[in-house]
Amino acid sequence: MPKLLLLFVATVALGLGACSGSKPGAGSASYDPHTLPSGPLGESIAYGHDIVVETQSLMKPYVRAQMSCAACHLAGGTQPRGGSFIGLYGRFPQWNKRAHRVIALQDRIAECFLYSMNGKAPAYSSKAMIAIVSYIAWLSRGVPVGAIQSKDDRYVVPLPKDSPNVGDGATIYATKCSMCHQSNGAGVGGTFPPLWGSGSFNNGAGMAHIDRMAGFVRYNMPQNAPGSLSLSQAYDVAAFVLSHARPRFVKNALVVTRALPAAYF
Ligand code: HEC
Ligand code: HEC
Repeated sequence: MPKLLLLFVATVALGLGACSGSKPGAGSASYDPHTLPSGPLGESIAYGHDIVVETQSLMKPYVRAQMSCAACHLAGGTQPRGGSFIGLYGRFPQWNKRAHRVIALQDRIAECFLYSMNGKAPAYSSKAMIAIVSYIAWLSRGVPVGAIQSKDDRYVVPLPKDSPNVGDGATIYATKCSMCHQSNGAGVGGTFPPLWGSGSFNNGAGMAHIDRMAGFVRYNMPQNAPGSLSLSQAYDVAAFVLSHARPRFVKNALVVTRALPAAYF
C-alpha cells in the first residue's frame, strides 16, 4: 500500500506522462530545465544537474576517476535501478554502517566523491555541494519524507548461492562489453567509462561490491542491450571485472566533518 501510494505520488508529482507504468517502481522522471523555479534556487538545481552529468569538467580538482556521477547514476540520477536519486532527499539523515554514525545527504555525496570518483569531497557549504543537494531535493519533490525505497528501484540484488565463474565472465566480457569498455578495461575517455585500472572507482566504492555491480549490470548493461543478461551472467562478468586491479582508497583522506560557515565560496 505505501509502495503504491509512493508510486502514485511520485508519478503525479513528477508529471510523468511517459512512465512505463506496468512494473512497480518503474516510474522515472527526466530532467526538464524549463520546469525549474526561476532565480538562484533554479540556478543551483541546474548547476547540480550539470555537475552530475559533467563531473569531469566541472569538478576537475575533486575527481580522479575518469567518469561522471551519471556513469553509475544513469540519466542524471532519474532511472530506476540505475542509481536513481528520486525520493532520496527524504531518506536522509540515515544510519551509516561504514561511518558508524548518522549521516546527512552531504556525507553520502562526499562518500561517492571519495570512493566512486576516487577523489575528494567539496566542502559541505560550497556552492557545488549545495547544488548537488538542491538537484536531489528537486528530483525528490512529492515523495514523502521517510518513504521506503521500493526494492524494484534499487540495483542491489540477492546473489546466486554458488560462487561466480570468472572464466565464463571473461567470455561474456570479450563478447558483450569490451567493444565499449575495451579489453584492458580502460574505456574510451569521455565516451565509455573505465571498469578497472587507474581511471576507475577505488576499492572502497559501492560498485566494488559484487552485489551492486551484478545488479547494475543485470539491469543496465550492455548499454546497447540492457536486460539481456541473466543474473548469473551478470554475476560472472561482475566477478571478472572486479578480479582486476583498481585504485586503493587511502584512509587518511577520510571525510572531515568540520563546521563551516553557511556561505558560498
Ligand atoms: C562507479 C559508480 C558510481 C559513481 C561514479 C558515483 N556513484 Fe554514487 N553510488 C554508487 C553506488 C553503487 C551507490 C550505492 C547504491 C545502492 O546501494 O543501491 C551509490 C550511492 C550514492 C548515493 C546514495 C544513494 C542511496 O540510494 O542511498 C548518492 C547521494 C550518490 N551515490 C551520489 C553520487 C554523486 C553526487 C556522484 C558524483 C560526484 C556519484 N554518486 C558517483 C555508484 C557510483
Ligand atoms: C554500447 C557500449 C557499452 C557496452 C557494450 C557496455 N557498456 Fe557498460 N557502460 C557504457 C556507458 C556509456 C556507460 C556510462 C553510463 C551510460 O551512459 O549509460 C557504462 C557504464 C558501465 C558501468 C558503470 C560505470 C563504470 O565505469 O564503472 C559498469 C560497471 C559497466 N558499464 C559494465 C559493463 C559490462 C559488465 C558490460 C558487458 C556486459 C558493459 N558495461 C557493456 C557503455 C557500454
